[in-house]
Amino acid sequence: MSLLEGKVAIVTGAGGGLGRCHALALAKEGAKVVVNDLGGARDGSGSATTPADKVVEEIKAAGGIAVANYDTVGTIAGAGNIVATAVGAFGRVDILVNNAGILRDKTLLKMEEDWWDSVISVHLKGMFAVTQAAARRMAEQVANGTADGGRIINTSSLAGLVGNFGQSNYGTAKAGVAGFTRVTAIELAKFKITVNAIVPLAKTRMTEDIALIPDSLRPECVSPAVVFLASDLAAGVTGRLFAIEGRAIREFRYKATDGATAAGDMWTPEEISSRIKEITA
Ligand code: NAI
Repeated sequence: MSLLEGKVAIVTGAGGGLGRCHALALAKEGAKVVVNDLGGARDGSGSATTPADKVVEEIKAAGGIAVANYDTVGTIAGAGNIVATAVGAFGRVDILVNNAGILRDKTLLKMEEDWWDSVISVHLKGMFAVTQAAARRMAEQVANGTADGGRIINTSSLAGLVGNFGQSNYGTAKAGVAGFTRVTAIELAKFKITVNAIVPLAKTRMTEDIALIPDSLRPECVSPAVVFLASDLAAGVTGRLFAIEGRAIREFRYKATDGATAAGDMWTPEEISSRIKEITA
């Protein structure tokens, strides 16, 4: 028995890179897959149907089941169509992988409104819009007894969790992915819908010009974690961030220091200054 037999999965931005690998891996484990991709350039300009179509053909050639969808994740209407494609073709939605993304790097002092808005829109509004549409369907399935939960897997980045030069728009969006993951994990727990995020590092067109990322960090190395989080094996795993780089995997956590308590009934700026080592130890 395959891990995802009978499940229906949506992978956004699955026409290439990491999303393609996730879609192939989910299909290999028996999931019926909606391969969504707008088919634009790395910066989000343009659109095409061929990237999604090609991945659907690859899945079918390997004996899997898939349909293409070309809507943008970045609007409520597009997100609705993506989920409607899954329901229309396969009758349900069990798994959502929010993977679609674009890159428009500029330092803060040179950042342009349109570069900020478009990156925030695809990564954050896109994640919200598709998650809302898919989670509503998943919750309905739980309520009518046709499912006992659901799986949502988001895509964050070191750029947001650690910080990276020239990526204030992208890093902000990817840190937002972490916050969204934690909040929605709490909200959707009552439906047994888990929400986790991956923090990948892989050689794709998004990272092709970063010499520090070696070719050995293949995107397909990330997909087993997505399949795990999408499967019944990950029941109860929710609100977590998993960083995957080649053969390495680790959990990403926020860390608070033990901190300090003010000597009087509240802090003064001077006392914070004099005890800063203790506060940050
Ligand atoms: P990629 O550029 O190969 O894949 C992104 C895909 O999303 C493309 O196929 C693109 O057409 C699609 N897309 C873009 N805007 C869309 C929209 N509005 N609606 C639907 N599809 C859209 O890049 P890669 O590396 O595979 O990125 C996948 C995800 O992983 C992104 O969210 C990216 O930010 C994230 N990521 C990647 C890392 C890496 O090392 N490659 C590191 C950290 C995060």
